[in-house]
Amino acid sequence: MLIVSKIVDLERELARIRGKQPIGFVPTMGALHAGHLSLIKQSLENKCFTVCSIFVNPTQFNDKGDLDRYPRTPELDISLLKSTGCELLFMPEAEEVYPKGTPVPSFDLGYMETILEGAFRPGHFKGVAQVVNRLFELVRPDQAFFGRKDFQQLMIIRQLVKMTGRPVKIIAGETVREADGLAMSSRNRLLSIEQRSKVGIIYKTLLTAGKLAKEHSIAAASAFVESEINGIQAFRLEYFEIREAETLLIPTHARAGNIALIAMFVGKIRLIDNITID
Ligand code: PAF
Repeated sequence: MLIVSKIVDLERELARIRGKQPIGFVPTMGALHAGHLSLIKQSLENKCFTVCSIFVNPTQFNDKGDLDRYPRTPELDISLLKSTGCELLFMPEAEEVYPKGTPVPSFDLGYMETILEGAFRPGHFKGVAQVVNRLFELVRPDQAFFGRKDFQQLMIIRQLVKMTGRPVKIIAGETVREADGLAMSSRNRLLSIEQRSKVGIIYKTLLTAGKLAKEHSIAAASAFVESEINGIQAFRLEYFEIREAETLLIPTHARAGNIALIAMFVGKIRLIDNITID
């Protein structure tokens, strides 16, 4: 695996491949886990020349403390990527991604950036759209892979691709879970042993809430999630919502195919997850 940090090197390597083999791209912020690696595998299975990027994008953090705390494990990331078969790793510095004097476009993402994560993390999706657009501009992938764990982000990226007309196919990867159901996330590394032993309840709560919403009501499901999550010391629910999968609008009644989404804090660590109601 070749590791580059400069755009000229990235472009030189990609020029050797472009037109001969599709380019598959997995953008990440590092602290890689099995969820990221499954996206790399998907790209390799699609016979793509597979490029991963590691860049902790400052413009998508609305909370400076969250940016400072964000786990950074470059050596481990590199060895994981090598073992998976990733071919090119782009690890730029901020000046390379956002060169001084070059204006960064700001995308109007409309309704999508005003709800759920967008409501609780103002500016977050503008930052995500900015960096993904910039990385797409540099890598010019044929296919790009994003996990369903960040469901709203996936929708924002699809919207961005429509808005910019980039010829890239966005492919979703299933959420990868630990044995107790915890969705894989870079932030899980920040949990203490005690916190880690308790967070399996998030997935179990979502599953039960999905059933409750479908068989009783969304209100009953919301009350259940609130009492389960807020009943645990140092856990704090930020939101639990049922949404239409295609539009993220609020359904009048929950039904199969809707998405149940949760965001919560365990101490200072913010975790999100979602399931599709079956
Ligand atoms: O999902 C992430 O890790 C980030 O939001 C992304 C897509 C790499 C953009 O910084």
